[in-house]
Amino acid sequence: MIERSETETTRSEERAKASGGVLWAGRFDGGPAEALQQLNDSLPFDRRMFAQDIEGSRAHVKMLTEVGILTADEQSQILAALDQVEDEMASGRFEPAPGDEDIHTAVERRVTEIAPEAGGKIHTGRSRNDQVATDLRLWTKRELHELAQLVVQFQATLLARAEEVGDAYLPAYTHLQQAQPVTLAHHLLAHCWALARDVDRLLQTIERVDVSPLGAGALAGSSLPLDPVRTAELLGFGGVFNNSLDAVSDRDFVAEALFDLSLLGVHLSRIGEELILWSTTEFGFVSLDDAFSTGSSMMPQKKNPDIAELARGKAGRLIGHLTGFLATLKGLPLTYNKDLQEDKEPLFDSCDTVRLTLLALDGMVSTLVFNTEAMAAQADNPFAAATDLAEFLVRKGMPFRSAHHVVGSLVRAALAGAGSLPELVAAHQDLGPEAAALMLPGASMANRTTWGSGGPVATANELERFRTAHASVVASLR
Ligand code: ARG
Repeated sequence: MIERSETETTRSEERAKASGGVLWAGRFDGGPAEALQQLNDSLPFDRRMFAQDIEGSRAHVKMLTEVGILTADEQSQILAALDQVEDEMASGRFEPAPGDEDIHTAVERRVTEIAPEAGGKIHTGRSRNDQVATDLRLWTKRELHELAQLVVQFQATLLARAEEVGDAYLPAYTHLQQAQPVTLAHHLLAHCWALARDVDRLLQTIERVDVSPLGAGALAGSSLPLDPVRTAELLGFGGVFNNSLDAVSDRDFVAEALFDLSLLGVHLSRIGEELILWSTTEFGFVSLDDAFSTGSSMMPQKKNPDIAELARGKAGRLIGHLTGFLATLKGLPLTYNKDLQEDKEPLFDSCDTVRLTLLALDGMVSTLVFNTEAMAAQADNPFAAATDLAEFLVRKGMPFRSAHHVVGSLVRAALAGAGSLPELVAAHQDLGPEAAALMLPGASMANRTTWGSGGPVATANELERFRTAHASVVASLR
């Protein structure tokens, strides 16, 4: 080992001082430029991972003690210091110092202030590269789980509304043109099934998030006898990394979470778009509760569906975070590159955005009033039963294509003023009064009995299936 001269030691201490106390000061002459510091610092946003950073440090320190790198006394000093730092951070008493680049340096700096000797050993065998990946995985795991619970809660609201509206019905649309009537419950459940896939995706993503990168070091592991399997176990991870290079450079889990949240956001946006349409004077299918709508500063009569519009608007922001982050990743060589610091803000923002949107939409949907008479009035438009008329003819043996033509001609005649469709149908030789009865209020929808269809009996079965599926997810999320 090369002994350093007295003067050399003094000089390096002076350099460390000049460099504002940063952790990597030994190698540097003087401190970082102001612009570098501002661009580089992630503490303003990554301090929200302080609990995970401390949790990861505790596990690391315990493992270091178990493998004989730290003494029991050093361990207890560091753990006590970590408790204190956690307390300071949680209560807002933590004072960042100039060299605190990120949450990892801030915690280590403060631990070392509290326990100078032992604290200097906390970073043994560890790098911020495996540390940040560990923190973010711990954070994401918990967050996605909570978001899945919020989705499930929103589904419960939709389900309750579907149960409450009984056999109310409305026109279903293709091309936003009235197509065929269905129960309102069937329509609401359609959104529930889409959200069920979102929950499923979040839970599957969590499985891939649930892998510990701690012990990968900067990128290549360590010459010290670390035990990454043990830290993974201490942190409650389901698995441990297989490759140190991959462990520190992999942010697939962030991209996946951003995708899951984007698609969930797209589903919420589509629900929002329907609520916007349904609350127009023209549709009048729903009336919004005052607490979940806004007024106009100029037009006294206005009641606006802002929550629904923001649900629609926020989807753009979520998609932006996904595409932005994929662009960040695409050019990165192995392994860690500072570009990866760009993972946290979009992820945090997407999670916050989805959380708020879910809560607001939940409130909006649980308080709105369904105007089932206005829905029925539209659904009872005789034209909406045209497919049922064609199927009536099919039951009598007519090929579907001919039946389609017969009914289509009657629709055209009705539109041309030859009479109302029910009159023309009642008078038609192949159709008659029995077929005309299909155009009575609610009749067309009631005839739709096939699996997963929109009639009342099929809807009752579907409700039962959804209740069962939902209950099992609720139980698994506990
Ligand atoms: N703040 C950094 C980030 O968020 C932590 C890792 C820094 N690693 C490094 N080698 N500079 O990515």
